[in-house]
Amino acid sequence: MIPSQLIEDIRNKADIVKVVSEYVALKKRGKNYLGSCPFHSEKDPSFTVSPEKQIFHCFGCGEGGNAFAFLMKIENIGFIEAVEELGSKVNVAVPKTINRGPSKNDKDKYFQIMSLAAKHFADNLESPAAKAVQEYLKQRNISDTTIKQFGLGFALPGWDNLFKYLVAKGAAPENIVKAGLILRRENSSGYYDRFRNRLIFPIANHRGQVVAFGGRTLGEDNPKYLNSPDTPIYHKGETLFGLNLTKNEIKKSRTAVLVEGNFDLITPFQAGVSNIVASMGTALTVSQCKLLARHCDTIVLAFDADIAGGIAAERSVELMRSQGLKVKVASLTGGKDPDEIINKHGAQTFNKILDSSLPFLEFKIKRIFSRYNLNEIEARAKAFREVAAVLSQAKDSFVQNEYAKLAARELKTTPENIMAEVKRLGHYQGAKSKNLRRITAKPSSKVLEAEKSIITLASQDTGALATVKEKLSVEDFNSLEAKAIAGLMLTVDFEDSSKLGHFLLDNLPDEAAKKQLAALLVSDHLPRDRKDEILDDCITVLKNARVMAKIEDIKQKIKAAEAAGESQKAAELLSALKSEIS
Ligand code: GTP
Ligand code: MN
Repeated sequence: MIPSQLIEDIRNKADIVKVVSEYVALKKRGKNYLGSCPFHSEKDPSFTVSPEKQIFHCFGCGEGGNAFAFLMKIENIGFIEAVEELGSKVNVAVPKTINRGPSKNDKDKYFQIMSLAAKHFADNLESPAAKAVQEYLKQRNISDTTIKQFGLGFALPGWDNLFKYLVAKGAAPENIVKAGLILRRENSSGYYDRFRNRLIFPIANHRGQVVAFGGRTLGEDNPKYLNSPDTPIYHKGETLFGLNLTKNEIKKSRTAVLVEGNFDLITPFQAGVSNIVASMGTALTVSQCKLLARHCDTIVLAFDADIAGGIAAERSVELMRSQGLKVKVASLTGGKDPDEIINKHGAQTFNKILDSSLPFLEFKIKRIFSRYNLNEIEARAKAFREVAAVLSQAKDSFVQNEYAKLAARELKTTPENIMAEVKRLGHYQGAKSKNLRRITAKPSSKVLEAEKSIITLASQDTGALATVKEKLSVEDFNSLEAKAIAGLMLTVDFEDSSKLGHFLLDNLPDEAAKKQLAALLVSDHLPRDRKDEILDDCITVLKNARVMAKIEDIKQKIKAAEAAGESQKAAELLSALKSEIS
């Protein structure tokens, strides 16, 4: 790590306009500078540099950040090199002894350990001690060929089988710890294996090198799946399970089927669906979306059929679309996940489900319809408003019109009526309404704007930051970028607010969040004399949205409970709903 004081120093001495001018011809426009973006081709210059904020942002491609980020991007170098480079430009030396993160040699060390571990686990699976796992895999219809292809293995039940094996092979305990395979005992000396008595799934990088493991319990232990922690060679948020085996097929078909679970990848793969990847149960990150976008143009989501699946799908979809991916959603029926569907009904059924996947908007609209009894006028009225809200987020008017036609039939109304509501919502979203508090169903773009304003204000002003820290938590933020920014912003202590923005830009783990923040800071037009008032309004918007979401969630659960005939549960939920509303 480079001491933050040194980074500070270099940043204070450097001028981003000078740095960028070495690569881009800049012209002064008002208080900013404008030029042709070096990161994408454009006719009209939209690459903006703010000397006041010391930030660049391209309104064309969305690229943005501070001087370090600019150098990293244009020279294709890492953060430390960018600091050194900028340091040399402003005559501040960065000592060479500073740790530069894992070197190639270091990484090789971990790759070696992981490869040894993978061999150990795979060998175990063939031993008599693995009888129960072998049975388990048979029962789940996993063939020997598949076991070999994925290098499946078994972690023995004892406390230190892997540890002993690796040490005997010459690995140093501290490196095995860093590779995430063993943990230090808390109350005595020594180490113990992270994975014990579990079915092991090796997780590989794009070159096919094992970088992590997932382990499934064979009994009822918690957690059901235990995964490697992040290590010098494994970054969970940048890895997709199975991609090493399926990337060629994904490239060829320009389409990837995205599933959640390990078995949901392996079983379809074994059945011939070879353009498939798995997210391993967590929400998709921007890096994972980028990775997918490098291989294909269309994603078919085959997430679990439950409500959680629906919500996870919607979140992931926003991200994928932001990376230019087309998104289709498969409706899983006949089983809770792809693995179960194939085992119960065969691969053909699963293929049919994939073939009849719907474009995301259509999926969303159908989902609204499925929640209401469209024979009732009141229900149709609600569905009508929800459909219009969904359509108002589509930017393409042709697409809006086509879906309005489709929805009009179900809602027994005219496409014109739907489009009128879509337009009304559009206007509403554009207008700066002062009466937010009284409006209940808030279009989500309002919320997104509010959180952007909050971030803009709080990242430049200590007072605003204090207010936000007091009144909001990370859960109040909605977009993934805003969550990432808030996650960092609300946890650091900062006395000098003029530096908070740059601190965030340098330390945000997420590329999209960095760009978002740079864009907000460069295009900040919030009137300074009304900052407090705007901040209060925006905080209220987020708070209300969260309450609304909670109420909506309870309502859904009540519906489900009623449908399942669980009247006791429905009654409990109803009283929860009442206390939420009052
Ligand atoms: P099977 O019962 O083996 O078919 O698992 P599943 O894939 O049906 O499980 P589920 O739908 O519950 O979870 C989907 C994926 O999320 C899994 O394949 C795992 O990658 C991940 N996952 C599930 N449970 C856990 C957990 O307890 N911890 C972690 N870290 N990941 C989990
Ligand atoms: Mn499953």
